[in-house]
Amino acid sequence: MQIRLENLLKKFNETTAVDHVNITFQEGALTALLGPSGCGKSTILNMIAGILPPTDGKIYFGENDVAEVPMEKRGVGMVFQNYSLYPHMTVLQNICFPLESKKELKKAARIERAKELAKLTRVDELLSRRPGELSGGQQQRVAIARALAKEPEILLLDEPLSNLDARLRLEMREEIRRIQQETHVTAVFVTHDQEEAMSISDEVVLLKGGTVQQVAAPQTLYDNPSNQFAATFLGNPPICIVNGIVQSGRFMAGNTPVRWDGVKHVEEGRKVALGIRSEALKLSNTNEEADFEATIQSKYIIGRDALAVVELNGQPVRFYLTEDLDCLSDGDLVSLTFRNKGVFLFDCETGARLS
Ligand SMILES: Nc1ncnc2c1ncn2[C@@H]1O[C@H](COP(=O)(O)OP(=O)(O)OP(=O)(O)O)[C@@H](O)[C@H]1O
Ligand SMILES: [Mg+2]
Repeated sequence: MQIRLENLLKKFNETTAVDHVNITFQEGALTALLGPSGCGKSTILNMIAGILPPTDGKIYFGENDVAEVPMEKRGVGMVFQNYSLYPHMTVLQNICFPLESKKELKKAARIERAKELAKLTRVDELLSRRPGELSGGQQQRVAIARALAKEPEILLLDEPLSNLDARLRLEMREEIRRIQQETHVTAVFVTHDQEEAMSISDEVVLLKGGTVQQVAAPQTLYDNPSNQFAATFLGNPPICIVNGIVQSGRFMAGNTPVRWDGVKHVEEGRKVALGIRSEALKLSNTNEEADFEATIQSKYIIGRDALAVVELNGQPVRFYLTEDLDCLSDGDLVSLTFRNKGVFLFDCETGARLS
């Protein structure tokens, strides 16, 4: 089921939580709603579910305006951060519970359906346990099974993995992806974790302050951010931002001239910020002209990656080293060359992408 938000507005007294948002969630896709705390993710989800009424604007499921459709008739399954399982019921009873209202289903059929879902979410060995006797990941699976019980056309997940440890999070997000692909349910997955959003979704909606910043496939969002916020929010290690001005067709980072073609069409004297991803920079080869020179401040290794840090106009700029760490010492003056991806220019004041 396609979900379409049209000029959706939600105000809580003076606070505008969601500010005239237009989003289309594609049928059968998993879309991540990504953004920092307080940007309006849960509010959007709750309006889709019918838990919160919009202040203005429209929500369509397919061609239908659902303004007058109550929560229980929307065909939406929801999974919350705290799972909210019924503690006194067994796993089987929890999964069966939403089916109780389906009078046309005989008890045996309800149990049959619940067992199928338990199998899909891999909790079929745990049917007689109560939530208190399950691990976080197992509780999460039960919550997903329960949300799917009524065969919803839409599955809404609000930070469903945030109570789990790092390893289980990774495992569970792959599970959610698998279940979504097996059921073809249209899913909206709320998270503030960019890596989680990138790894799980077909499309990412990036939000800030109740407004949509960019809608794109995960890799497009990373490779082609539409503004400085998008560039900064995605990527680990984070992109390095260096302030400067355009002078004589070059980017001047304080006193250091930086050669980068992207500034050529920008007017002289404009205050701009250069965003440099760590993989976008390398030590120059002896036979190529350097784009700028800088002094090594430090170097470090994380797992299999070696990084060096130089300083540009007071800002640290990190880059991956492909060569032996020992060939460099702190304080060395090095020549650096940009690779052809991962460098962006932004307007200093608005953060708009210039090139
Ligand atoms: N019931 C409410 N009354 C007043 N303000 C609210 C209410 N619910 C949310 N807000 C405000 O609306 C804004 C958006 O809140 P929302 O819960 O949608 O953010 P979020 O993106 O889900 O954040 P988080 O990642 O922390 O869960 C915030 O500024 C919040 O304080
Ligand atoms: Mg929230």
